[in-house]
Amino acid sequence: MIGAVQLGLLAACVVLFVPMGMAGWHLSRNKMLFFSGALFITLAVGVHLMPYFPSLSVFLSTSEVISAPISLYHDSCIFSLHSVMYSNVRECDDGPFDNHEIGCKKSWQWIESDQVAKCEFQKLKKSDASDLLNGSWVVVAGDSQARLMVVSLLELVIGSEGMERIRGDLFKRHSDYSMMVEEIGMKLDFVWAPYVANLTELMLQLKRNKNLPDVMVMGAGLWDMLHVNNASEYGMSLRMLRDNVLALLPVSSNLDAGGVELSESKSTRILHLFWVGMPTLITSMLNTDEKREKMTDEMCNSYDNELYGSKLLRESGGPLLKLDIRMLSDLCGPPCTADGMHYDGVVYDATVQIMLNALLIESNQKPE
Ligand SMILES: *[C@@H]1O[C@H](CO)[C@@H](O)[C@H](O)[C@H]1NC(C)=O
Ligand SMILES: *[C@@H]1O[C@H](CO)[C@@H](O)[C@H](O)[C@H]1NC(C)=O
Ligand SMILES: *[C@@H]1O[C@H](CO)[C@@H](O)[C@H](O)[C@H]1NC(C)=O
Repeated sequence: MIGAVQLGLLAACVVLFVPMGMAGWHLSRNKMLFFSGALFITLAVGVHLMPYFPSLSVFLSTSEVISAPISLYHDSCIFSLHSVMYSNVRECDDGPFDNHEIGCKKSWQWIESDQVAKCEFQKLKKSDASDLLNGSWVVVAGDSQARLMVVSLLELVIGSEGMERIRGDLFKRHSDYSMMVEEIGMKLDFVWAPYVANLTELMLQLKRNKNLPDVMVMGAGLWDMLHVNNASEYGMSLRMLRDNVLALLPVSSNLDAGGVELSESKSTRILHLFWVGMPTLITSMLNTDEKREKMTDEMCNSYDNELYGSKLLRESGGPLLKLDIRMLSDLCGPPCTADGMHYDGVVYDATVQIMLNALLIESNQKPE
């Protein structure tokens, strides 16, 4: 519902300005007061009756559909999904390994708190993930961070042997990748989209095709930071993306399910949208001078601020749930990266599990 306050203000403006306008048409002061009073009463009665006319209030609240997920963001389980920690499978200083990559292999788990216990987060195994994603169309679009998400997701659903078969294709740099996981009827598309403008283009394409995936994961920023290096322009492109994501979403929404329901096609389908954030960049480890110069902490912060300012994310009233790679990679730290930008699989494994648990919550298969 549009807040009573806004309606009140609107009514006040009408009551004030309409008679003033009429005064311009040579109405006497008494007549003006009469019109004011009549208008005031009409509006007041209208406002109070409005809730009893559902069609009117639906009409008035269509513009608010986008904010529906806010309540979900405050849903405490969605909020605690990122409460994870890493631990060393083997102690770094222990054993014969000098090489960090071998000696410090990390694993991750959710921290043991009452809140996390209440939410019953679980690391989905292959069979659980297959059940969850059975028959769905998953689109992941973005830069290398999005690609690493795809690697972790596929490793989960087709196992490491299956992965070996397709690894060559998947690691072709800078290209799209599409596969049908036959066993579970899951269609997965990776769309190489290094810039936010490429994501916007993808939204337009989906809209033209009138066919929406079930799960859409996107994120871009690193290329922009390196090649454009202008946070306010990044912010502008994000706002354009937000507008185009919203344009994709139908107006009717299912508030209780938290997701946005597709009213036009299959009414039971819910579109789930995620944003893959940028990683923590460890400037001293970046592999070119240009990167070290441009991809500073300061720049990362400005880019992050633009992301919040763009209202693309649920936490700021937008449609996408953020997968906080920056936080998750920072927790893992320098031992988990060779180039200060691309992290070990464990970071993206955790991210994929966070995403799948969010899907479980949103599809009401989990306690809220
Ligand atoms: C996927 O769903 C179909 C039909 O709903 C079912 O026949 C099939 O066994 C499911 N596969 C998996 C791996 O769950
Ligand atoms: C991504 O967008 C940039 C800038 O708009 C464009 O030059 C490039 O061709 C696009 N790349 C892809 C893969 O669409
Ligand atoms: C960033 O882009 C904006 C808008 O295009 C421009 O006004 C501003 O000067 C640019 N900032 C830098 C540091 O180049």
